[in-house]
Amino acid sequence: MNKAHLTQWGGCAIITPKMTVPDQWNTLEEVARGVNTCTGCRLSQGRTRGVPGEGPANARIFFVGEAPGWHEDQQGRPFVGPAGRFLEELLELVELTREQVFIGNLLKSRPPGNRDPLPDEIDACRRYLDAQLRIVNPKVVVALGRHSLARLCPGQPIGKIHGTWRWEGDRIHFAMYHPAAALHQQSLKKVIQEDMLKLHLALEAAEKAEKPEDQPGSPQQLSLF
Ligand code: URA
Repeated sequence: MNKAHLTQWGGCAIITPKMTVPDQWNTLEEVARGVNTCTGCRLSQGRTRGVPGEGPANARIFFVGEAPGWHEDQQGRPFVGPAGRFLEELLELVELTREQVFIGNLLKSRPPGNRDPLPDEIDACRRYLDAQLRIVNPKVVVALGRHSLARLCPGQPIGKIHGTWRWEGDRIHFAMYHPAAALHQQSLKKVIQEDMLKLHLALEAAEKAEKPEDQPGSPQQLSLF
């Protein structure tokens, strides 16, 4: 696989308004404390533990999943169930470990029965993810699945733009199917593995680029996160 296989998204029709990032949190530990004491939405009533996310404060890649499932809710850690095992396999493909990347979610508390996140829950949790992104300041942000992608680029179907990327400020946003999708649909496993290899190339591109404007064909910058 070479760089020719990397394509950029273009033409996002809808621009998400830039959210105000609270300044009261300056470390990931402070954000985690905020998550663990949060009563900002109905999900706080049913959770066993908050799941702030984890990874080094200087991680180059930041994965954004959907929401904690049963295993995550029990342990207070992201992606520790079957989807997490597949995510770890994917990371191995590009010689990374989970300790080297940041793994977070749109929602920090488990929705009952693992149902889809509701818009007001995503809004209530938004400030935590915003703060984590500000603190970690990764080179590449990976949207895992359609809910996460809806925040990066509303209106872009995951089936169309998975494995592709776009510049957002001085970082790259990369779209992938959620690892759990491969558990339900075996045929997606290879697709996700191939996208993971492209992610590795996207990281190289982000690290080499001095300024995103220097990239040929860089799409218009959107304020998405
Ligand atoms: N699925 C997610 O989106 N996040 C997790 O943490 C686990 C499973």
